[in-house]
Amino acid sequence: AEPPAEAAVPQAGDPGLVLLRRIGVVDPGDLDDYRANGGYAALRRAFEIGPAAIIREVLDSGLVGRGGAAFPTGRKWEATARQPDHPHYLVCNADESEPGTFKDRVIMEGDPFALVEAMTIAGYATGCHKGYLYIRGEYPRAIRRLTHAIETARSRGLLGADVMGQGYAFDIELRRGAGAYICGEETAIFNSIEGQRGEPRSKPPFPVEKGLFGKPTVVNNVETLVNVLPILLGGAPAYAAIGTGSSTGTKLFCLSGNVRRPGIYELPFGATLRDLLTLAGGVPEGRTLRAVLLGGAAGAFVRPDELDIPLTFEGTRAAGTTLGSGVVLVLDDGADLVKILLRIAEFFRDESCGQCVPCRVGTVRQEEALIRLSKRPDSGDLALLREVGRAMRDASICGLGQTAWNAVESAIDRLGVFSPASPSTFPSTEAK
Ligand code: NAI
Ligand code: SF4
Repeated sequence: AEPPAEAAVPQAGDPGLVLLRRIGVVDPGDLDDYRANGGYAALRRAFEIGPAAIIREVLDSGLVGRGGAAFPTGRKWEATARQPDHPHYLVCNADESEPGTFKDRVIMEGDPFALVEAMTIAGYATGCHKGYLYIRGEYPRAIRRLTHAIETARSRGLLGADVMGQGYAFDIELRRGAGAYICGEETAIFNSIEGQRGEPRSKPPFPVEKGLFGKPTVVNNVETLVNVLPILLGGAPAYAAIGTGSSTGTKLFCLSGNVRRPGIYELPFGATLRDLLTLAGGVPEGRTLRAVLLGGAAGAFVRPDELDIPLTFEGTRAAGTTLGSGVVLVLDDGADLVKILLRIAEFFRDESCGQCVPCRVGTVRQEEALIRLSKRPDSGDLALLREVGRAMRDASICGLGQTAWNAVESAIDRLGVFSPASPSTFPSTEAK
């Protein structure tokens, strides 16, 4: 069940790279360098074909959201564009906070003009004149580079009252998050931008109808938006030919944990988890693979005998896990699984906004039960954990509470944590 030892690692400038192709190649502070490497050709084409045809291309490309939920981007754009209520707003969700996720950071730091260009296209297609870039406050370099990119684009007529001389007005305002994980939830972002407490709103109504300031709003993740550039440049059929029927294009994966070459990898959808681990060099010398956490804290653990799972939205779903935003956290036989579960439970308890009871109370009860189980696996708390987990999943307002039990459940059911035969049932030295 171990991944083979080595494979060729994609390098900067590799023709197989789509989203990362300029990373490490262009100077992120230089608009002319960006243009010399294909920058702003997609926006030019966007103005040639007009909003309806852009949305058609995005629909036909099969692009789905890369923030974790995989909702069809074209449907979101279409729904926003047709709303009679104005103004429309665009929000780029750059509050990348899922533990183990750092893909958007790489794009924002290495190719910031690409995000500015992609936001301009999204704004034009959906009838927005204002875009908010809501960025994680702990990304100071990305904030500096994007601020510079926005100012430069504005000074060169690529943002502002008359973008590219096409009579279209669009500008971007950058807003920094203040460290709350929940402010990456799309409706909590609205509250945060509006100056309210960062608490999620109930959906429906969906943002496409009633979002920021109560107006139609399209919210897209950073990686989702930059995919629009190759779609417009190469056309929807070429884009849709990459990957699988239901997961088109390429995906950025964030490799971390006990792996020889951690980092960001870009692969066409359909590669297997084994392919990805091979690229990353597998686990360190002398260790064996214990588990992989796919999809981050909201995701699920998979076992070493499940490495042939195709990395697609449909493939991971069929395997009872999720691709989420592309987190691949690798754990070898030296990892303390109980300690990791305690850390995940602490994280959710800490980050719950406290607005609804199932999550506010459930995340506390989950952590308490895990602490007791970590000291005494036969404490009888497994049944309680399941009950609390189900209540959080079924009755929480937002994704945080709904997914707070996912990783713990999968560790119990798939990895056998807390079962008498499991090596991970040994009390964690860190248990409180
Ligand atoms: P969701 O499934 O509620 O919505 C996904 C998107 O589709 C949203 O923009 C929503 O407004 C839109 N949508 C859904 N149904 C719609 C409809 N009928 N009409 C129009 N628009 C519709 O999921 P949510 O709560 O937005 O995201 C959950 C995901 O976020 C999780 O899968 C998790 O992996 C991911 N996540 C990512 C993080 C990161 O740092 N990238 C952090 C935390 C969670
Ligand atoms: Fe807040 Fe948790 Fe309820 Fe979401 S599920 S609204 S984070 S208390």
